Amino acid sequence: MKSLLQKISNRPQGHGLPPACYTSGKFLKLEKKKLFLHEWHCLGRTDEIPELGDFFTIDLMSEPLLVVRETEKDISVLSNVCRHRGMPVASGSGNTQRFRCPYHAWTYDLDGKLRNAPLVPKEHLDKDCQLPRLKTRCWQGFIFVSLDANAVWPENQDMQALIPLEQHLANYHMQTMHHAISFVETWECNWKSLVENFMDGYHLSVVHPESLHHLTPTLLCKKVTGSEAFTAYTANYGKLAPARENHHPSLTKEQVNQSQLFCVFPSLIASVSADTLVYLALHPISVNKVSVKWGVATFESDLTDDEINIRVEKWKQINNEDHEILQRLQAGLKSEHSVTGPLAADNFEGTLHDFHQYLAHKIGIEAVGDL
Ligand code: FES
Ligand SMILES: [Fe+2]
Repeated sequence: MKSLLQKISNRPQGHGLPPACYTSGKFLKLEKKKLFLHEWHCLGRTDEIPELGDFFTIDLMSEPLLVVRETEKDISVLSNVCRHRGMPVASGSGNTQRFRCPYHAWTYDLDGKLRNAPLVPKEHLDKDCQLPRLKTRCWQGFIFVSLDANAVWPENQDMQALIPLEQHLANYHMQTMHHAISFVETWECNWKSLVENFMDGYHLSVVHPESLHHLTPTLLCKKVTGSEAFTAYTANYGKLAPARENHHPSLTKEQVNQSQLFCVFPSLIASVSADTLVYLALHPISVNKVSVKWGVATFESDLTDDEINIRVEKWKQINNEDHEILQRLQAGLKSEHSVTGPLAADNFEGTLHDFHQYLAHKIGIEAVGDL
């Protein structure tokens, strides 16, 4: 592990990470310790649960979580583990006034407080008994959580570092886009490969010759200056791309003909255009499996199901093409002969360099002693 981390910190500027970073269980353990138990992770969109009592469940690093619209204004993320004997209290999604554990019917209010524990003497119960509340923040319509009770937002320096991204994306008004649909899938690849793939304009014309090349060809991609909290690039539309009719009036003519792709480190990747936002929230399962919650939001609030389906089907195709190539990549990375080479010019793979800088900063070579 030490030599792997040394290789990362000594690698030349703009070089791929050593293949073992994508295949080593020990490295994933380190990522879990340094990134996934402390950083902020996206769980979905605020308007997936617009009404009081709306909720959905999701796992993050094997932690069952319950995301609930606790008041008209507030969204909470609670531990979805019953305080009686550990049963997940809720499953799936829906709307409720209170949560009733399916095992022995302990019930909890929307804020997680225990309301009733049938047949348990009152004096045996902790009067403050409640489902633990996790640190939660909403940003640009995304729900974020941290598993670290001491995580800080937005005073945290890294989150200040999101301000340039907010400015870059401001005219798209992502926070007012309308949730259309979301899916949870398991992709057979390392989570970092998926971040890199989404943020690499280099592969667009090769992997997506039918679905994207005519819209966002590789040669028109342009890197955006990132920070320690994000990386981004602009995919400019080719001449054959159809005009986007519906969009926020604050968008410039140039912005109407662009998609902005960004990664909020470490695990939210997204693409926003004049009329559509697509995001993928990544939650690693193992070195070669990642749980992907992906969703689509639209600028328009009045689209028909057929109109929404056209956009969703398009992204299903793009995601299938990416998933297929990433599965094959994972097989290659496992080879004893696997190596990584220099990255392409900044506009095409410079975002990977930003991501690697973030990883090197967060994981740090001094962590080796803790393994
Ligand atoms: S485990 Fe929930 S009521 Fe028993
Ligand atoms: Fe792709």
